[in-house]
Amino acid sequence: MPVPQHSPSPRELDDIELIVSGALPGPLNAPGSPLTLALPAPIAEIAGRDGEVEIVDPEGLPLARVTWPTGDVTGLSSPAYGPFRRLYLTPEQTRRTYVGRTVVPVTDALTSSEITELGSLGPVLLLALVGHGTPSLSPAALLRASLLAADALPDAAVVAVPLASHDDPEADHGLGVAVVDAYAGGDPVHALASADRSDDYPEDVAAVIDRDRPALEDQGLVIFFTGLSGSGKSTLARALMDRILEQGARTVTSLDGDVVRRNLSAGLTFSKEDRETNIRRIGWVAAEISRHGGLAVCSPIAPFDATRQDVRRYVDDAGGAVFLVHVATPLEECERRDRKGLYAKARRGEIPEFTGISSPYEEPADADVRVDTTGRSIDDALGDVIEALRDAGYLDLAR
Ligand code: ADX
Repeated sequence: MPVPQHSPSPRELDDIELIVSGALPGPLNAPGSPLTLALPAPIAEIAGRDGEVEIVDPEGLPLARVTWPTGDVTGLSSPAYGPFRRLYLTPEQTRRTYVGRTVVPVTDALTSSEITELGSLGPVLLLALVGHGTPSLSPAALLRASLLAADALPDAAVVAVPLASHDDPEADHGLGVAVVDAYAGGDPVHALASADRSDDYPEDVAAVIDRDRPALEDQGLVIFFTGLSGSGKSTLARALMDRILEQGARTVTSLDGDVVRRNLSAGLTFSKEDRETNIRRIGWVAAEISRHGGLAVCSPIAPFDATRQDVRRYVDDAGGAVFLVHVATPLEECERRDRKGLYAKARRGEIPEFTGISSPYEEPADADVRVDTTGRSIDDALGDVIEALRDAGYLDLAR
């Protein structure tokens, strides 16, 4: 039997890369350690039986073997993905090439005064901490900005370090110190004071930042309607798209629940598992649209909070924003309308696992706007969505 393979999350991949490179100590999943790896239950079961699991990159290239459940990591090959890969050096490679420099960890573009400050330190090594969730800019933009800063200094080099954030400031601080020490060896480390963000940037650095952080109205956006069947999601979503097209400033892609189930998700059932697959597909496509600054309007039931959070994560990782609309028309009203006659069938037991009747709907606690369409015209209800979109700074449509 082949060793089971697993492609971990971006955060986990970064952690494994740093353990393999010797920048962080293993094992994974040590008690109290933020360096964790979670395996889906079926893979964990096989890994537990075989004693190990093979970690592959997103394209399936084997990167490391991890003993399971003990978490010891052995590298198999160097990661080869991602922009500026040539700048990713191990601590050992870094020491070999850049020993004797003052090491300066950076997580944001350097301001003009920071560049001046570094200019007096002699040869410096900018350690760009580009792991998942750590830099203020995208990893590629932080590296672009750091290379420009290095060009403006008398003698500076840039090394990329995939130090990820674990959403635990204390643990992340500890990891940061350990990683920077590993890269610095005995060389001095210069910590930048937290920069005054009103400070100026050199013109070329400012252009990198602007391109990486588009204004809200130019950012990729996923407008995600969730609610019961018959709540008015599709109708509101369609009316919103018409308004956007009438205004003419942006193009729109529609990912409606019923429509998606006829193409992208054809063949899926309404079991919990298939619904999750359906929503993740919608989220994946929407995230790709947002990556290019596009606008996707999604209107599936999306009854499970955890899957809606997956969508958020996909879109967030693609640099887009999610605007969640809860179409909160109560079940009694949806059932009273019963435009498709499905509630009657569900009540008669002819449709199994029907949302609201025999399958749950988890109300979102994180909606940007909540609309109950009971007793309201579409135009009126749509007004609430348009107003909330305008207040959030995403879209300015005439009400
Ligand atoms: S989701 O749960 O996976 O998000 P989705 O939005 O794609 O659902 O599909 C819901 C549509 O499928 C409803 O508008 C309804 O017309 C139809 N449908 C058929 N069977 C079911 C069911 N068991 N539960 C809910 N909707 C169903």
